[in-house]
Amino acid sequence: MTSKTEDGANRRRRLLVTGLPTDAVVERASAEFDVQFWREADPIGDRLLDVASGFEAVLIMPDDKLNAERIGRLPASVEVLGTHSVGYDHIDLDAATARRLPVFNTPDVLTDAVADLALFLVLAAARGTTSAEAALRRGEWGRWAPTLFLGRSLSGLRLGIFGMGRIGQAIALRAAAFGLRLHYHNRTRLAEDKERGAQFHESLESLLSTSDVFCICAPSTPQLRGSIDSQRLALLPRGAIVVNVARGDLVDEAALFAAVQEGCLGAIGTDVYRGEPNIDARWLKLSNATLLPHIGSATHEVRTAMGMLALDGIHSHFSGAPAANLLNPQAYAATHRSWD
Ligand code: DGY
Repeated sequence: MTSKTEDGANRRRRLLVTGLPTDAVVERASAEFDVQFWREADPIGDRLLDVASGFEAVLIMPDDKLNAERIGRLPASVEVLGTHSVGYDHIDLDAATARRLPVFNTPDVLTDAVADLALFLVLAAARGTTSAEAALRRGEWGRWAPTLFLGRSLSGLRLGIFGMGRIGQAIALRAAAFGLRLHYHNRTRLAEDKERGAQFHESLESLLSTSDVFCICAPSTPQLRGSIDSQRLALLPRGAIVVNVARGDLVDEAALFAAVQEGCLGAIGTDVYRGEPNIDARWLKLSNATLLPHIGSATHEVRTAMGMLALDGIHSHFSGAPAANLLNPQAYAATHRSWD
C-alpha cells in the first residue's frame, strides 16, 4: 500500500492501530503499511489527536470513543478509519461523514461466534451453572438430592429475540435445535426465509410479554438506548430469563437489578454492560447471573478475521475498490480518488 512522495519515490501508507490485534493481523498490517501500534493498557483517548498526526489511516478498537468533537479535531492527515468491531456506537458516524471520513467495520465474520455465546448464556442462565459451579468450587457439593441445583428446561420455552439481524437469525437457528419456540421483534419484518420460523411481533412490548427467555441482539442506536426499562421489564413473564449479547446501554441496569431483587426475573446471562469494563458493583452480587467480559467475538479465528476485514476496508479506500464493509458510502464518494 504505497503512495508517491513529492520526489516520485514510493512511500508506504501510514496506519495507526490503537490496540494490538492477533499475530496474523499484525503481520499483514506490518507488511502492507508503515504501521504503528498503540500498546498502552489504557485506551488512547484524546492522545489520538496528537498521535495520529501524519497517519493516513487509523484502526480503532471498540473502546476508543470517537465522538463528534474528537472527529472534528482529528489531524488533517487522517483520511480513513477502521474499527475492530461490527458495532459502531462508539463512533459518531454523522460527524465522520461530515468530515468526509470513510469508516469500515467488521460484519459477518463474528456472527456465529456471538450466536454461540448467546446460546451458552441462555443455557447457563436457565440451568444456573454459574452458581452450581461456584458451590462445587467452594467444596459445597453435598449428597445427590432431587432438588439440588435445579434449573429450567429449555424445550418448549418461548425465546424472544430483540433485533433479528445477522446475529439474531443465527441465534434463532441454534435455538430451534434446543426446542425453544421462536419469536422476534425487529424494526421491519424479515422475509420468510430469514425468519427461521420465528413469529414476528410488531411491538417490543408484545415480544416482551411473550418471552420466557428474552435475548437482546439489537444495535445500540440513540433510539434504542435505555429501551429495556422498568416498564418494559415488567411485561416479561414472572421468572423470565434475560440475555444480552448486544450492548449494555440498551438496558436500564438499575431497573434490571430491581427486577431481579423483586423476584420478577429468574436469571440473567450477559456479555455486555454499561460503562464496561468498570461495571456496576451490583452485578457481582447477583447469584443468578452469568457474567462474561464481552467475549462474544473472542475466538482466535474470529478476531483474526475481524482484523483482516478492517484492513481490507482500509486497503480498499486506497486502492479504489470500495469494500462492502463501508459504513458511510457518502463519505467514500466524497473523498474517493484513484491512487498509484
Ligand atoms: C463488536 O464487534 O461490536 C463486538 O461487540 C466487540 O465490541
